[in-house]
Amino acid sequence: MVRRVLIRWAVGILASVIAGVSLPAGSALALDPDAPVVLITGSNRGIGLGLARHFAAQGWNVIATCRKPKNATELQALAAQNPRVVIEKLDVTDNDRIRALAAQYRDTPIDVLLNNAGISGGMKNESLGALNYGVFNQIMAVNAVAPVRMAEAFMEHVAASEQKKIMNISSGEGSVASVRGGRLYFYRSSKRALNMMMHTMAKEVAGRGIVVGLLGPGAVDTDMMRGIPIPKLSVEKSASDLYEVIAGFDAESSGMFIHHDGTPIPW
Ligand SMILES: NC(=O)c1ccc[n+]([C@@H]2O[C@H](COP(=O)([O-])OP(=O)(O)OC[C@H]3O[C@@H](n4cnc5c(N)ncnc54)[C@H](OP(=O)(O)O)[C@@H]3O)[C@@H](O)[C@H]2O)c1
Repeated sequence: MVRRVLIRWAVGILASVIAGVSLPAGSALALDPDAPVVLITGSNRGIGLGLARHFAAQGWNVIATCRKPKNATELQALAAQNPRVVIEKLDVTDNDRIRALAAQYRDTPIDVLLNNAGISGGMKNESLGALNYGVFNQIMAVNAVAPVRMAEAFMEHVAASEQKKIMNISSGEGSVASVRGGRLYFYRSSKRALNMMMHTMAKEVAGRGIVVGLLGPGAVDTDMMRGIPIPKLSVEKSASDLYEVIAGFDAESSGMFIHHDGTPIPW
């Protein structure tokens, strides 16, 4: 793998020298060929930013995607300190952009595709009697459909890597067994749908050595949880726990739904 990436580097640099052009910002050519690669969605804030920081601190190449790179000041600061962090623009509901990014990185093996981007519809839109069905479509598009599209688009990048992992930030709210009260109809359904699709995918891609995981980050102190009066983990704690869980995922645990502390979450 290292040899292939090095050859690509050399060819790319030679081509740019011959053409007299500089390498584009956020180029795949900026990645370190000796370090593994993670691609993270929604990495400008919250758990995604925490994961980008943690993977970078562990020496990984981080393809940190977000909707608005120009506004992603904390991510920009991380990239300024760490040449292995490249920022790419990606709205996960933009199928053309997903395909373009996959083409841009077509020769880059991606060890971990980390589908993190997610939205909640807010309590008001998700309450019986006031269910907002437009919000349902948005939540399903971001939380359930987009991770599967990402996995389809980047499957060969993952298959070409050493670690071969597709990891998905799900939620304990997607556990039917854990439902105690009536709320979050859409959010819960989206994570449940994500779990089913990725569990199915895990079976289908097992023969290629690809591992698929569903992760519960815990209740984490992010914008999504603002104003909800329950005990919360710091972003740093959740991200470092998730890093360990991802590191431990293997063929045996593929398709499983695992809490940040390493315990299985009931379906
Ligand atoms: N916080 C918790 O307690 C908790 C618990 C269980 C599961 N989760 C899950 O953890 C993940 C991260 O949540 P969080 O708590 O970090 O939430 P957050 O602070 O609200 O961050 C959400 C991230 O998703 C991005 N995003 C939303 N829609 C997007 C789109 N269409 N394309 C690309 N990026 C998009 C946001 O980007 P913008 O800044 O552009 O909006 C932001 O980076 C989500 O999947 C969430 O469901 C969170």
